[in-house]
Amino acid sequence: MTSPALGPEWWRSAVIYQIYPRSFADSSGDGVGDLPGVTSRLDALTTLGVDAVWLSPFFTSPQKDAGYDVSDYCDVDPLFGTLADFDELLQQAHARGIRVIVDLVPNHSSDQHVWFQEALAAAPGSRERARYMFRDGRGDHGELPPNNWESVFGGPAWTRTIDPDGTPGQWYLHLFDASQPDFDWSNPEVHEEFRRILRFWLDRGVDGFRVDVAHGLVKAEGLPDYVPPIDSGSMGGDQTDVPYWGQEGVHEVYRDWRRVLAEYPGDRALCAEAWMPTVEATALWVRPDEMHQAFNFAYLETQWHADELRAVIDASLAAYAAVGAPSTWVLSNHDVVRHATRLALTAENPQGHGIGPDSPGQPIPELGLRRARAATALMLALPGSAYLYQGEELGLPEVIDMPPGARQDPTWFRTNGERYGRDGCRVPIPWEAAAPAYGFSPTGASWLPQPPEWASLARDVQVGDPRSTLSLYRRLLAERRAHALGTGALEWLDLPGRGILAFRNGDVIVVANLGAAPADLPEGRVIAASEPLDGATLPTDTTVWLTAA
Ligand code: GLC
Repeated sequence: MTSPALGPEWWRSAVIYQIYPRSFADSSGDGVGDLPGVTSRLDALTTLGVDAVWLSPFFTSPQKDAGYDVSDYCDVDPLFGTLADFDELLQQAHARGIRVIVDLVPNHSSDQHVWFQEALAAAPGSRERARYMFRDGRGDHGELPPNNWESVFGGPAWTRTIDPDGTPGQWYLHLFDASQPDFDWSNPEVHEEFRRILRFWLDRGVDGFRVDVAHGLVKAEGLPDYVPPIDSGSMGGDQTDVPYWGQEGVHEVYRDWRRVLAEYPGDRALCAEAWMPTVEATALWVRPDEMHQAFNFAYLETQWHADELRAVIDASLAAYAAVGAPSTWVLSNHDVVRHATRLALTAENPQGHGIGPDSPGQPIPELGLRRARAATALMLALPGSAYLYQGEELGLPEVIDMPPGARQDPTWFRTNGERYGRDGCRVPIPWEAAAPAYGFSPTGASWLPQPPEWASLARDVQVGDPRSTLSLYRRLLAERRAHALGTGALEWLDLPGRGILAFRNGDVIVVANLGAAPADLPEGRVIAASEPLDGATLPTDTTVWLTAA
């Protein structure tokens, strides 16, 4: 095995590329990407220059929430291949010096998980039911849900069961879809099971876990109503004191997991998906004895505005430094509108709501792409670890005009189409302009339709074009590595002009122009620029990296 590019504590500065397996590369031809497909395309990631990949779920699942509804945590769904395919992928990635982290979904399982099926068949109060959150209903006949909580995907967070004799029975909690019952993390058996699952994948050689809904799991004692009632399902980033997000007890779970990881050699890492309202609150997940990283959603959610970005960068560096953790940076993932579209929206768009043809604030595509390139160039110059989402290196936009009949996100169904949901960022990515499904699948099948204009964004079209977004990403990643920006330190520079962000990281000076007017370019040798430069000015919505001449 080749030794990976980054050594001990690699996660402090790694660039981690998110693979959404359904939409990356399909080797079987059924229109859904799979693990052999990922393996066959690993060379593209070596050329891109990433340090690690995070694989979204490929475990056994009825796919009601694109695999975030797991029915067997220790096997591969036939849709994606086999455990042997996973082992091959891992080995091939490691041989290229690429680390692999997998997605762990501990807040809930699928309703097809054997534990939940046993729970449904068992009586109230049984050991089987105690693994999930079953409660009697309110009202004279238990006809009302146990409390007023709402699902993140819309509608009530409770579903009533039917007893074996056909009469209505208890209710169970699901913060997400009804097919995703929440585990009861006050039950030691659940803890034991997840330690087993962690060890199963650690034994196979994974380098870490991205932990889904890491701020969920533990619910407030007595399951009190949430006041004021939620009027929009949310992952919690905009809410405080929610009885199911960020409860103190959740941290004990991760202290335990950290000890499990420490049993293994080679710096295995945990990354929290915790949508907390502030970076300070999120930093609680990366205290020295907890996880290693947490997604910086405050950064992702910041508008394209110099002062706001400077503030969130400062707050992030301070909050994470205070607990000895690196900051992470992220602009896109499989749950948010792609940043090549989001940065040009002119109306508010809450996370998870998505965007469709009649949504307010429609973006100008060219503006979105330009800002996305500048935003990525800014992000990749920051010290810490950065996450990329497959397809952003091609400048892919959100697919807005998707046929309603093609949509698959449970959000779309649970809100009767009121929220479009997340399908628009999950469309299979284009590899070769002239191939069926743009090289995604040998048969041309694609589980979500690919727009015709994506031919021009295909990887093979961009590879030889120095002005392409792909070439920009490759350049940024190479220079980031060459100048050790990930392990560097940021020092702000005050340059004249409105809307200018400028800082030094090691021997690199980074200037981003978010203002309306062109700015003066400082002296130096340009080593990367998000747009072609003309003379000594820095155009609007452009980021440049310079070194001493
Ligand atoms: C996380 C995942 C999202 C999923 C949800 C429920 O937010 O990123 O895709 O729907 O958890 O598991």
